[in-house]
Amino acid sequence: MKKLLIVYHSQSGSTERLARSAAAGAREEEEGVELRLLRAAEAGAADLAWCDALLLATPENFGYAAGALKEFLDRTFYTASAHELNRAYALIISAGNDGSGAVRQLTRIVRGYPLREVAEPLIVRGEPSAADLERARETGHALAAGLQLGIF
Ligand SMILES: Cc1cc2nc3c(=O)[nH]c(=O)nc-3n(C[C@H](O)[C@H](O)[C@H](O)COP(=O)(O)O)c2cc1C
Repeated sequence: MKKLLIVYHSQSGSTERLARSAAAGAREEEEGVELRLLRAAEAGAADLAWCDALLLATPENFGYAAGALKEFLDRTFYTASAHELNRAYALIISAGNDGSGAVRQLTRIVRGYPLREVAEPLIVRGEPSAADLERARETGHALAAGLQLGIF
């Protein structure tokens, strides 16, 4: 059984809605893919070791990923890098008007784990619209489908 981990932080709810849509998309691949949807504060190295693919979802705060998501990465780095996890990953960023700084920062951080990017980062600016939630659902679905098909 392949495993997908979604780790997110959300202060005012937008990222959480996007992460939940991604989880709903992943659940459509119900055969062969197990899912964990966790807030960054609740997720740890054991969850990273458990998964075959990882979706990180965060607001952009002050041009970076939210501190709570960064803290999850800080906390798990030594364990993860020791195991050379090389998991597939994708990003969802919720931003007021930009999002590029968070993508740049996270792309750089995960190179050290290492993680392999398997989808274009999804940046949603402003309140997520129905179309944005659909794009998040597609991201989750694509990750789960890729796992199920053995692509990553
Ligand atoms: C402290 C703080 C800093 C922020 N900095 C940025 C920023 O640098 N760039 C940006 O586009 N939006 C910024 N925003 C807006 C949030 O990224 C945006 O509202 C996001 O959708 C919030 O996600 P959430 O509802 O999941 O908490 C900031 C918001 C807060 C509270």
